[in-house]
Amino acid sequence: MVAVLTVEATPSAPPLVLRPWRYGDVAVLTRMGSDDALRRWTSFPTGNTEDIREWITTQRDGRDTGDRISYAVQEVDPRDARAGEPVAHVVLKLHGQPVGEVGYWTASHARGRNIATRAVDELCRWAFEQYAPARLTHLELIHQVDNQASCRVAAKAHFSLLQVLPPQPPWPWEGHLHVRRRL
Ligand SMILES: CC(C)(COP(=O)(O)OP(=O)(O)OC[C@H]1O[C@@H](n2cnc3c(N)ncnc32)[C@H](O)[C@@H]1OP(=O)(O)O)[C@@H](O)C(=O)NCCC(=O)NCCS
Repeated sequence: MVAVLTVEATPSAPPLVLRPWRYGDVAVLTRMGSDDALRRWTSFPTGNTEDIREWITTQRDGRDTGDRISYAVQEVDPRDARAGEPVAHVVLKLHGQPVGEVGYWTASHARGRNIATRAVDELCRWAFEQYAPARLTHLELIHQVDNQASCRVAAKAHFSLLQVLPPQPPWPWEGHLHVRRRL
C-alpha cells in the first residue's frame, strides 16, 4: 500500500501531497466540519470530536482491509516545500472489483482551486496503474443532480455521465452516475 501520493505543481497551483488521515487531524477536521455543504452533500460527521475520531478510525480500518483507501490532501508551499494543513479528502472504495468508487470533499476555504479535481485524478491514476492494475476496470463517481460543483469535478477528472439514478435514502434527489474507465 502506498502511503503517500503526490501531484505535481501546475503553472498556477502548488504541488499536492495525499497522505493517510491521522488522529492528529481531529482539530482541523472539526474546524472544516462546520460547513453546510459538507452536511448537505456528504456523510462526514460534522462538528463532533468523538464522531470525527471514529471517522478517522474508519479510514484507518478501511486501509487495513483494503476496501476503503482515503487520503488527506495537503498543498505544498513551493518556497520551503512544507505541506500545509489538510484541505481536502479523497477516497477510493472497493465494494467488489472490477468496480471501484471515488468520493471527495474540499474544505470551504480551499474550494475553487482545482484541488478536488487534481487529487481525484491522481487517485484514479494510482488505482488503475498501481493499486489494482489487473483487477480494476472502471471507477464510479456518484453525486446528487443539483451538486453542480461535484459534476464539474467529475467532468474535469475524466469521468463520463453514464446514468441518472433515482433518489435513494438518505439522498432525496436523483443522482448522476459517472464512470471513468481504465485506458
Ligand atoms: C464539490 C467539491 C469537492 C469541489 O471541490 P473543489 O476543490 O472546489 O473543486 P475544483 O476546484 O477542482 O472544481 C470545482 C468546479 O466546480 C465549479 N463550481 C463551484 N461551485 C459551483 C456551483 N455552485 N455551480 C456550478 N459550478 C460550481 C467551479 O467553478 C469549478 O469548475 P471550473 O474549474 O470549471 O470553474 C466542493 O465544492 C465540496 O467539497 N463540496 C461539498 C462536498 C461535496 O459535494 N462533495 C462531493 C460529493 S459527491
